[in-house]
Amino acid sequence: MCGIVGALAKRDITQVLIKGLQRLEYRGYDSAGMVVVDEHGVLQRRRTQGKVKNLEHLIEDHPLQGSCGISHTRWATHGVPSEVNAHPHICNGDIAIVHNGIIENHEVLRKAQLSQGHSFDSETDTEVIVHAIYDQWRETNDLLRAVQETVKTLHGAYALGVVEANKNDRLIAARKGSPLVIGVGNNEYFIASDVFALLGEATRFIYLEDGDIADIRLDGITIYDDTGKPVVRAITETELKADTVGLGRYKHYMQKEIFEQAAVLKQTIAGRIAGGRLLDSCFGAEANKAFGQIDEVQIVACGTSYHAGMVAKYWFESIAGVACHIEVASEFRYRRHVVNKRTLFVTLSQSGETADTLAALQAASQLGYAHTLSICNVPESSLVRQSEWHLMTNAGPEIGVASTKAFTTQLVALLLLVIALGKHHSITKEKEIAIIKQLELLPEKVAEVLRLDADILRFAEQFKDKTSALFLGRGEQYPVAMEGALKLKEVSYIHAEAYPAGELKHGPLALVDEHMPIVAVAPNNDLLEKLKSNLQEVQARGGQLYVFADKHAAFEAAEGLSLIRVSEIDDVIAPIIYTIPLQLLAYHVAVIKGTDVDQPRNLAKSVTVE
Ligand code: M6R
Repeated sequence: MCGIVGALAKRDITQVLIKGLQRLEYRGYDSAGMVVVDEHGVLQRRRTQGKVKNLEHLIEDHPLQGSCGISHTRWATHGVPSEVNAHPHICNGDIAIVHNGIIENHEVLRKAQLSQGHSFDSETDTEVIVHAIYDQWRETNDLLRAVQETVKTLHGAYALGVVEANKNDRLIAARKGSPLVIGVGNNEYFIASDVFALLGEATRFIYLEDGDIADIRLDGITIYDDTGKPVVRAITETELKADTVGLGRYKHYMQKEIFEQAAVLKQTIAGRIAGGRLLDSCFGAEANKAFGQIDEVQIVACGTSYHAGMVAKYWFESIAGVACHIEVASEFRYRRHVVNKRTLFVTLSQSGETADTLAALQAASQLGYAHTLSICNVPESSLVRQSEWHLMTNAGPEIGVASTKAFTTQLVALLLLVIALGKHHSITKEKEIAIIKQLELLPEKVAEVLRLDADILRFAEQFKDKTSALFLGRGEQYPVAMEGALKLKEVSYIHAEAYPAGELKHGPLALVDEHMPIVAVAPNNDLLEKLKSNLQEVQARGGQLYVFADKHAAFEAAEGLSLIRVSEIDDVIAPIIYTIPLQLLAYHVAVIKGTDVDQPRNLAKSVTVE
């Protein structure tokens, strides 16, 4: 994963690098470092294990200054999190690089470089790149050519920032498979893994394409494509504002993002419905026309986005009458497929940079799907740029590693797709109007469920000493239970599993005793009575039930059954509403346990490695 920031200006850029890294910490936070070319042309490096704030403190104690530099926040792949494995890596005091991605042939290159006399300081795959660039630089005496020659030898993915000693007016950037943008300021330039890192420094951005290498100098940029030919890449203006990524009155981003859901769900439907109907323009005229030729949907995603896709499978088949398959991207990309040519291939991703999802999309383009569509939250992302059509979720930046508002906005976007496709199948005008009405009610219903926060905090207090938990749901509430379990394990480090409630007696019931909390989501739907029977089986074995139930579902709190009543809601929006108490439960348990809520151990927000 990892985040990269670089800068070339006529002022000290140390704080630009630190601030950029702080904004990229969602990509990884196990070590951080920077190199600047100082006034004597020396590559000055500072590196620390841990978060960017450790680097900030190190720089306060051991200041450095310079107008040209590169920096990095790491999520370890090759080599433990440590100072020596932290980037930037330097060869011979002459060349320094930062890298995001994985070099698959690093072992072969390392062996060759060892035999040529290089010594290695780190266990990273990255270090081979800096030695290779150094060797080429010695031969060509030109940093650009050195990078161009080096990348020809690399297998895998990379986004690179490269500087050389004695040159504080040149920065080389290169990308293949990992994201990298160039921020264009006033006679100053920046590079970063995403635009958020540079908000406040630049509003104009160049998105490098795969294989591009940029030669950045104070008087301008030249970009070369993967054949070495100079190319012109468009400069786009971003509408994102630096202040959209503040914490406001909240203690954590996860909390802020949970409470933002009423507002952002409104943004997801804004401009897409009118007069109680879905606008034809929602997916674009071309897509709208082609939807008539679609009779299957294949969804691919990871993690929370995968859970959203699972809910949508129920919706596509029960509401739209359209067959739907769903698979995690890391599995999809490595198996053979039998493809119905009238299938729409849909990727779901908050970040749009998840390596497995991107690779699945690339694989799909060779498999004969009718069209590709991505549902994503980051307009500038690789996924959006590589998909034929896209629908933005408009959730605003999601900073907490645990995905919350991204999930519920994805569900809303998916419901819009269910309607758009379903109109060509089994959705009547009346049905469409009924669903849209529920979507319009969402902000109000979300606000209502958020008012359960204090009750959920009381539930959470009973989880702090637990080591395991089970989550149960039936039908489209099963993926909701999966999402609840993922949230709990991710932020509170309590082992949690989700099951379709009917599956319990086929094994997991053996886990149930008086120490095991079992969380169940129980809207008042056709499966309620079935779910109740399953819960009685748990109660009879001493399990401790924590039930979120519709107020008309006839549950009563009792010994072994703690209850929170949820107001009555329509089936179609129930998965969206019932997810929210589970997000709050996980959040409160994590806060009570004192974990790092927004940056849980071992994780990163955007999984840009496979
Ligand atoms: O950005 P994406 O939606 O593609 O990310 C997929 C998963 O990595 C992500 O949902 C992950 O599971 C979350 N941290 C879960 O909260």
